[in-house]
Amino acid sequence: MKRLLTLGLLAATLAGCQPKQNQEPIEQVIGTAFENAQAQALLLAKKYEPQEGRLPQSWRGTVGDGAAGEDVGSSSRWWCSGFFPGTLWYLYENSGDAEVLRYAQMFTERVEREKYTTTNHDVGFMLMSSFGNGLRLTPVEADKEHYREVLSTGARSLATRFRPSVGLIRSWDHNRAVWQYPVIIDNMMNLELMFWAADYTGDENLRTIALSHADSTLVNHFREDYGSYHVVSYDTLTGNPLLKQTHQGYADESNWARGQAWALYGYTMMYRITKQERYLTQAQNVARFVLGHKNMPADYIPYWDFDAPEIPNALRDASAAAIMASALIELADYSQPSLAREYMKVAETQIRTLASPAYTAPVGENGDFILMHSVGAFPLDSEIDVPLTYADYYYVEALTRLSRKLGS
Ligand code: GLY
Repeated sequence: MKRLLTLGLLAATLAGCQPKQNQEPIEQVIGTAFENAQAQALLLAKKYEPQEGRLPQSWRGTVGDGAAGEDVGSSSRWWCSGFFPGTLWYLYENSGDAEVLRYAQMFTERVEREKYTTTNHDVGFMLMSSFGNGLRLTPVEADKEHYREVLSTGARSLATRFRPSVGLIRSWDHNRAVWQYPVIIDNMMNLELMFWAADYTGDENLRTIALSHADSTLVNHFREDYGSYHVVSYDTLTGNPLLKQTHQGYADESNWARGQAWALYGYTMMYRITKQERYLTQAQNVARFVLGHKNMPADYIPYWDFDAPEIPNALRDASAAAIMASALIELADYSQPSLAREYMKVAETQIRTLASPAYTAPVGENGDFILMHSVGAFPLDSEIDVPLTYADYYYVEALTRLSRKLGS
């Protein structure tokens, strides 16, 4: 606890003095950010290459100590296993570098066995970031059929977690004494895999499942102000919500930053795929809640929870900012000009801040991760103020989206 307080005070000092924004042209910021990201990702790939079956997860240490620190790796079972290969795919998309491609292929293969995962909902996160991007980008024609097989098998595994009486995909199986049928807001992100597989296999049931999940989440996960709960647990017989909680946030009625980011991204993605107005409206309502929140800092890197009691001395969460930036760039494409301008201004501010030395580590530091200062699960004393693969993944995705939009 004492360590947390010290970390909090340190973050407070950092957060109190807003990082000075780099005012160089955004194209230049993006170019330097990509170069830095690729250098770090290659170092990380070389480190994990000899570790059969392992993938990067995080790192514990102090930036500035060079190679000192402790690497935290995982097997493919960890929900984040697809993000490092996904980052490599985006970097390959940007640079066309053959070494990056080789590593993207290698680390993607390390995730394959998750196509059989039926014990949690994370198969969508794992497979779309790795195999999904791989299918989109691989220049190796022969790999495409293999990637399609992995994705469609994974979607069928995920579909086993849908219970018609509830109308949603079950997220977790643990803590059954408390949660009869827990669904977390993060689960919106897994729906993209279901839509892809519905199109590919022609199995309309997969599309029906995804639509049902998104519609029930829209009704049950949100408060009147469009802030969202993290966990809603349902009655398995009636399908009614029994409990509404915020497990990884400060309190059940608080607004956990990454949860808001998943909601924003999830409904933006739902609109992209379905073109149903209700999803666009939901994404824009979530954006209004998040961007207008009284505790959203001027640099738009949210505190780990919008209602964290230590604000303005609470830790920031770079991962939430990266997810939001990527979602806002896409949402701008679907929105009227005044909203689109607002979203792009925020996303650019987020990217400039994340690309600054306040969040981007020097090459060879930070365990070879790109971004510093993310928060995994503060109340669980897990991954606090550390680099995380999904912060890097959504940051590089946001760079890619912005770069594409600017035509650079
Ligand atoms: N999906 C888990 C998290 O966002 O921490």
